Amino acid sequence: MRPLIKTALPGPRGKAIIAQDESCTSPSYIKEYPLVADRGQGCFIDDVDGNRFLDMMAGIAVSSTGYAHPHVMGAVRESLEKVWHICGTDFYTESFSRLCTKLSGYVPGMGKKRVFLTNSGTEAIEGAIKLARFHTKRKGLMSFYGGFHGRTMGALSLTASKIRQREHFGPFLPGVVHAEYPDVLRRPEGMTPEECGLEAIRKIEKQLFNRVVSPDELAAIFVEPIQGEGGYVVPPKSFLKGLRGLCDRHGIMLVFDEVQSGVGRTGEMYAADFFDVAPDILLTAKGLGSGLPIGAIIAREEVMDWTRGSHGSTFGGNNVSCAAAIATLEVVEKILPEIRQNGELLTSGLRKLAERHPCIMDVRGPGFMIGMELADPVTKQSIPNAMAELEQMAFREGLLLLGCGASTIRFAPPLICGPHEIAIALEILDRCLARCLTPSS
Ligand SMILES: Cc1ncc(COP(=O)(O)O)c(C=O)c1O
Repeated sequence: MRPLIKTALPGPRGKAIIAQDESCTSPSYIKEYPLVADRGQGCFIDDVDGNRFLDMMAGIAVSSTGYAHPHVMGAVRESLEKVWHICGTDFYTESFSRLCTKLSGYVPGMGKKRVFLTNSGTEAIEGAIKLARFHTKRKGLMSFYGGFHGRTMGALSLTASKIRQREHFGPFLPGVVHAEYPDVLRRPEGMTPEECGLEAIRKIEKQLFNRVVSPDELAAIFVEPIQGEGGYVVPPKSFLKGLRGLCDRHGIMLVFDEVQSGVGRTGEMYAADFFDVAPDILLTAKGLGSGLPIGAIIAREEVMDWTRGSHGSTFGGNNVSCAAAIATLEVVEKILPEIRQNGELLTSGLRKLAERHPCIMDVRGPGFMIGMELADPVTKQSIPNAMAELEQMAFREGLLLLGCGASTIRFAPPLICGPHEIAIALEILDRCLARCLTPSS
């Protein structure tokens, strides 16, 4: 399969749908470019006018097994014919407990675990805030600049990604402080990446713990092991290990927000294994159901000690979503080595492009969680609108991309993406980069 663009974009059917949408939907939606999806197959999406696109963003790192994966489709179909909903808070289904069993088997470093199922990432964050407070009987929370944890009020209190997401929505949860996330790319000269990670830990101890918040009042530190919306920023291992140390010393819960980095995206089932650091609580969502809504709070057994009736959800752990999640995990478990291999293929292809297109300042990230940062080769500053311009141009050539951070393109394709799709993506990117990014010099 290859991308195929037959009409102007959007085509006539797409145009009509967009017009209808614009007349009645919330103006808060972003709508990156005029893609009107109709059906998907593997890594390809057809729009309503019959144009075909190669998807390198998977609906923001969600369609983990691609579109219409036969194993996931089969599980969903079977579940649809049985029972859709019974409410996992009050009753039982086989797939609910099977999924929780499966999820509690990952990240062996965490020891024995218990699982609470949610509908989304932000709900997993909300639940984790409650769980950490319940377990520690403390109120304070810490998260990081550049971090994105969702948009409900608790999660938004932790989010410090783009001001547009927060302005006019406060006041936020009291007791939340933010710290600096290590920026290896812009570290001082002479400093190694590992030192850069340790420096971020030292700053937390010296500045925040000495002046702003007593560590003994912190219930939890929420961190994305790789920042997603913030720009696919990969920290050095020393940073996450340092956080583990801080939490151990002060009785703070270390919460890994793996909503974006989880379910095989880094080439390990969870990034905790990639960095070899075990959190107390791990949150997963996005890719878990291959597109059906489901998330989870996975916690060490002794941490998940909240009592009967203290937390629940009507839809969390919906039977069809659970079936999709079990099948997704079964597929992803088998393809982890390919994700690592194909991720390297894409990374090395992007690095080769960087040799010819100096506006590519950095290519980073494990597996299929790859960020390509764009910057002016002379000033090293982000090029205004470069990300959006590249997204638009690639779309018109049949390639679906999505930006993050100030000027980074994230490559988060379906995890089944292989050498054929990678070659097509690189070929289109090469053409677009040559045309759309003009350095300032
Ligand atoms: C790291 C992270 N946490 C939480 C969320 C919120 O998830 P959701 O949109 O499913 O509520 C996101 C969404 O992008 C995310 O990337």
